[in-house]
Amino acid sequence: MIEPLTIAVSKGRILQESLPLLAQAGIVPVEDPDRSRRLILPTGRAGVRLVVIRAADVPTYVQYGAADLGITGKDVLLEHGGAGLYEPLDLGIARCRMMVAGLPDAAREPGIRLRVATKYVASTRRYFAAQGRQVEIIKLYGSMELAPLVGLADCIVDLVDTGGTLKANGLVPLDLVAEISSRVIVNKAAMKMKHDRVKALLRELEEAARPSDRDRRSRRHAGAGEGR
Ligand code: ATP
Ligand code: PRP
Repeated sequence: MIEPLTIAVSKGRILQESLPLLAQAGIVPVEDPDRSRRLILPTGRAGVRLVVIRAADVPTYVQYGAADLGITGKDVLLEHGGAGLYEPLDLGIARCRMMVAGLPDAAREPGIRLRVATKYVASTRRYFAAQGRQVEIIKLYGSMELAPLVGLADCIVDLVDTGGTLKANGLVPLDLVAEISSRVIVNKAAMKMKHDRVKALLRELEEAARPSDRDRRSRRHAGAGEGR
């Protein structure tokens, strides 16, 4: 029997947005991943199974070969660093921006050593280092928007999509750190050992992720209306 291909997918919104793309490649889990208590889900595609795990764990599973491929956010990959992985495909889903944000009137003069709250410690350190700014980074695990409101930090680095969460908390976006979308990652050894199957799957996912003519037309149409 041939060894199965295991795909690790981030729980939550990435899973929801990945399922239609996976389905186009015949990868439909046998049980609803949101309801099932099974951690390994066989799929309708022979020899392909899914594991649905926390976003931050996906690169670890793929790095160590516990999963051959993974689907996770660029934000998570920027933190992981990419050891042992290839990142061959941008699926263009779960798009958002990693941004510096804060209170509109907060003091941010260059001389002041900022306190920055974030769950993205590595990206934050790189961003401020590139600007030659020394900052104190406070690691949080969620609800970063709260930190400036209660005096824990001068600003935050977090994900922004519609801007609704910032606005609801009286915060403003200040600067872009990185554009974020979900990527397919591949274990380096699996790319060699299971080359044909991995490449075939990547081609199918690329095709599934490509915007259809209809999407392109409706985007052009929306763009044409914007300047009016
Ligand atoms: P966990 O609970 O495992 O820490 P999470 O609560 O961050 O994960 P989600 O909110 O589902 O889980 O986000 C997972 C991924 O989705 C993020 O790593 C990012 O790539 C993307 N993402 C997060 N927030 C948004 C957003 N508002 N809009 C679009 N994509 C987002
Ligand atoms: C993410 C992110 C922001 C919010 C931004 O949180 O951490 O708080 O989305 O999106 P917006 O700009 O459209 O408001 P999420 O909804 O995933 O909640 P969580 O951080 O509690 O998982």
